[in-house]
Amino acid sequence: MSPVAASGETIEVLFSAEKIAARTRALAREITDAGFNNLLIVPILKGSFIFGADLLRALHETGTAPEVDFIFLSSYRDKTRSSGQVEVLSDIKAEISGRDVLLIDDILESGRTLAFASDLIRSRGASRVATCVLLDKPVTRAVEISPDFCGFKCPDAFVIGYGMDLAHRFRELPYVGRIV
Ligand code: IMP
Ligand code: MG
Repeated sequence: MSPVAASGETIEVLFSAEKIAARTRALAREITDAGFNNLLIVPILKGSFIFGADLLRALHETGTAPEVDFIFLSSYRDKTRSSGQVEVLSDIKAEISGRDVLLIDDILESGRTLAFASDLIRSRGASRVATCVLLDKPVTRAVEISPDFCGFKCPDAFVIGYGMDLAHRFRELPYVGRIV
């Protein structure tokens, strides 16, 4: 696909809106087939609010009706690389003890964000904790973790769009791309 102009930049589209939608429907089928009980899904803000919303509607199509809550995490980073610490900016309010929880994130890189969130949910007594990411970047993880459900392997580039930002910009793009 040839590069597109958006928000004053030239962007190479890596995953189109159509490709993301088709993969999201397939992921919903995989998640429904995994047989969760009393499921709570938790998109990690801010980056996964769009993926979370689309996945939730795809889950409805496959017959799964989960409860939804959010956690707002910040992982300290310079513009494009994570630096280590994860902080809870706003916590889950839903009851977690004894239930199945599916954490949703936009992209898995160092693994710190998802590992932190999984540990937190487990420490609150969830009976099953699973993870779903739209993108998995093939980088050296700081933490050993692999997602239970994954949309796509992502090139080792800083990507934007479909909820993901670069310095608070580009979340509105309906596709995932990189600035060229
Ligand atoms: P990790 O903690 O290093 O795995 O990073 C995960 C978080 O960093 C994601 O939830 C994103 O918010 C952010 N992130 C990592 N890589 C990218 C990227 O290429 N574009 C935008 N955000 C990213
Ligand atoms: Mg994020």
